[in-house]
Amino acid sequence: MLTGIKPTGVPHIGNYLGAIAPALQRANQFENVFFFIADYHALNSIKNPDELHRLTLSVAATWLAAGLDPNKIHLYRQSDIPEIFELQALLNNITPKGWMNKMHAYKAQVDINTEQNRPKDSGINMGLYIYPLLMASDILIFNSDAVPVGSDQVQHLEIARDIAKRFNNDYQKDVFTLPEFILEKGIEELPGLDGRKMSKSYANTIPLFSSEQQWSEAVKKIVTDNQEHTPESFQNTVFYKIFSAIADQKTTGVLVNDFVGGKIGWKDAKERLVEQLVQEFSQKTEHYNQLIANPAEINKILHQTAKDIRPIAQKTLQQAKAAVGIR
Ligand code: ADP
Ligand code: TRP
Repeated sequence: MLTGIKPTGVPHIGNYLGAIAPALQRANQFENVFFFIADYHALNSIKNPDELHRLTLSVAATWLAAGLDPNKIHLYRQSDIPEIFELQALLNNITPKGWMNKMHAYKAQVDINTEQNRPKDSGINMGLYIYPLLMASDILIFNSDAVPVGSDQVQHLEIARDIAKRFNNDYQKDVFTLPEFILEKGIEELPGLDGRKMSKSYANTIPLFSSEQQWSEAVKKIVTDNQEHTPESFQNTVFYKIFSAIADQKTTGVLVNDFVGGKIGWKDAKERLVEQLVQEFSQKTEHYNQLIANPAEINKILHQTAKDIRPIAQKTLQQAKAAVGIR
């Protein structure tokens, strides 16, 4: 199993419950698991060098603090495996340009340009245009069987599979394993403080790594109402959706009874949520802070993994080169 993570911002509990925790859970089902930080993929959007560096370390620290055991899961940085980029140069030549033209992410950008009367390819770099080619290379170089992804990545996975098929067929050699995607559903969309989807773009998040005081400040902002509640109507509140996503069933059951029975109001309910956040995430926060304060330790893990797994990449690349006649 293999999956790539683009370095984006510091995560919120929606990212944790919707993506990080399910991926770690999924990894338990496989013997050989590869998680990597897709820093070359991030280059088409992140243009500030310090930011890219900082985010890369922060993503690694996030996964380690969330419970990724680097002795069980290979955690590495894409840029530490140069064979990926050499393989991509090779795949460029068997991939029809038309496959890239059809990609949703590219087409969406073209649509925006057309709507705004700009030239069709305005602001689109080749990194975005051939994004699926680099992704195919990430996947094929390690002979991945299974790639868990969100629904936005399914098309990319289909392209990776088509590229592998075409290569094996053109050169009449089974060089590449055909990867299957696993559609990761995660939890349903976790609402944010204002009731919309929790997202960093809406500034309505509860941070994953934080302090009791900051969690408390965030939780106070969760929208509530003044109406009387039945258990059913209470279960429809934003507050309940967040609480029940974090707390276990028993704790959630007690909360519902106490609230609907009039024993507690919103203030106490919110204090209980803060308690849950502290219980679930304060140790992880501590671990995250320790790692971030010590980037050398993170780099050591990433470099060691790259060293361990590069021979696999070298072997695949060798086979692909031999197949096309570069011997
Ligand atoms: P954001 O919306 O904050 O920018 P991203 O788009 O970077 O988050 O999402 C990263 C991962 O976290 C994705 O796999 C996404 O499915 C998951 N995720 C983000 N927000 C939520 C949410 N509110 N509920 C569940 N999963 C989420
Ligand atoms: N494109 C993925 C995303 O935006 C990240 C990614 C890069 C990836 N290479 C991959 C995912 C290979 C799975 C397999 O989320």
